[in-house]
Amino acid sequence: MHFELSEEHQLIRKAAKEFAKSLWEGVVERDEQAKFPDEQVRQMGELGFMGMMVEEKYHGAGMDTLAYVLAIEEISKVDASAGVIMSAHNSLVLYGLQAFGSDAQQEKYLKPLASGEKLGAFALSEPEAGSDATSQHTTAIDHGDYYLLNGTKNWITNGGHADVYLVIAQTDSEKGHRGINALIVEKGADGFTIGPKENKLGIRSSDTHSLLFTDVRVPKENRIGDEGFGFKFAMKTLDGGRIGIAAQALGIAAGAYELSLAYSKERKTFGKAICEHQAIQFKLADMEAEIEAARLLTYKAAWLKDQGKPYAKEAAIAKLYASEVAMKTAIEAVQIHGGYGYVKEYHVERFMRDAKITQIYEGTSEIQRLVIARDILK
Ligand code: CAA
Repeated sequence: MHFELSEEHQLIRKAAKEFAKSLWEGVVERDEQAKFPDEQVRQMGELGFMGMMVEEKYHGAGMDTLAYVLAIEEISKVDASAGVIMSAHNSLVLYGLQAFGSDAQQEKYLKPLASGEKLGAFALSEPEAGSDATSQHTTAIDHGDYYLLNGTKNWITNGGHADVYLVIAQTDSEKGHRGINALIVEKGADGFTIGPKENKLGIRSSDTHSLLFTDVRVPKENRIGDEGFGFKFAMKTLDGGRIGIAAQALGIAAGAYELSLAYSKERKTFGKAICEHQAIQFKLADMEAEIEAARLLTYKAAWLKDQGKPYAKEAAIAKLYASEVAMKTAIEAVQIHGGYGYVKEYHVERFMRDAKITQIYEGTSEIQRLVIARDILK
């Protein structure tokens, strides 16, 4: 066992850190105006961040999950919205297509997505199916050589900007979760409309919409995997997605901590820098310890995935712990900054708002506990 990053991984971290510096510019305005970072996402595509784990023959960067985690961590240290745009695209859409898509689907969809030319979205959640993902009301009725898709999806990351959507829908309700399919739907398909953008608490410059499907004809060749594979497809894809969200949470925590550490050395009260007060030192020490633990859990889950070993439980542990650390650290970061922490220019209030979603999406903290408990009790 060794805890050193390889030279290649160190270089990836350095490249992501370098790129992330450019995200500071306009980050407050993008958050305030809920403005999608078009130019930044385009640059992320050019740098290979939008196809990190996809093989080079499909125009990806051909890197591993650990490299991907390092990049999301660095990017989320500055802008967690950019982190989730990248995470949903890479973990949920590209991984899903690469692992389970047919050769023709990979040829047609993976290449433009992995090069960053196109953006992907993953549509599982519904108004009445968030945590309870088997209760799909969206239907994909079999009409021979196509499915007729009807229903509504909610809270879809990249919803308005995506070109390609992986949509989970019920084909045969009598078969329960074994009657669910995953379908590739392109923007602009007849009957497919995008609902209004959500006005969110955090990750405001990421783009979250509902999606409406009314008699959308989806060709059979757009089904991923065998008939009825859709629920397992979603679960397997989400296992990897949780590593991406753990990395995002880790980045938010580390970003809030780094700002707090720097501030605590500059800000003076009672005649000395606030980092010289034990009250602040205790907070900084807890942050350092908890972030390091979250980092080790997240890297371990990524490493297991890269080794081809089971990782569902470890991904849930990493996501559960890292998201709680993100929330706690961001709240303490605001406290350390005092009044300044409550205004936008000092960024930590944004980190606090952004942290909350990491305890909710890709499975709430309660769902992660369920996944962990089921694994240890099986
Ligand atoms: N891998 C493979 N198969 C799995 C699996 C996994 N990780 N988890 C479950 N399955 C299989 C089970 O083995 C079972 O199959 P069999 O019947 O053939 O044995 C089948 O799936 C059903 O499993 P369960 O009976 O355990 O299903 P359940 O209804 O009890 O739900 C759950 C399980 C873990 C709670 C699941 O519903 C879940 O993960 N819910 C949360 C959904 C979620 O994360 N939503 C987030 C939306 S995406 C998002 O947020 C993206 C974004 O915008 C950033």
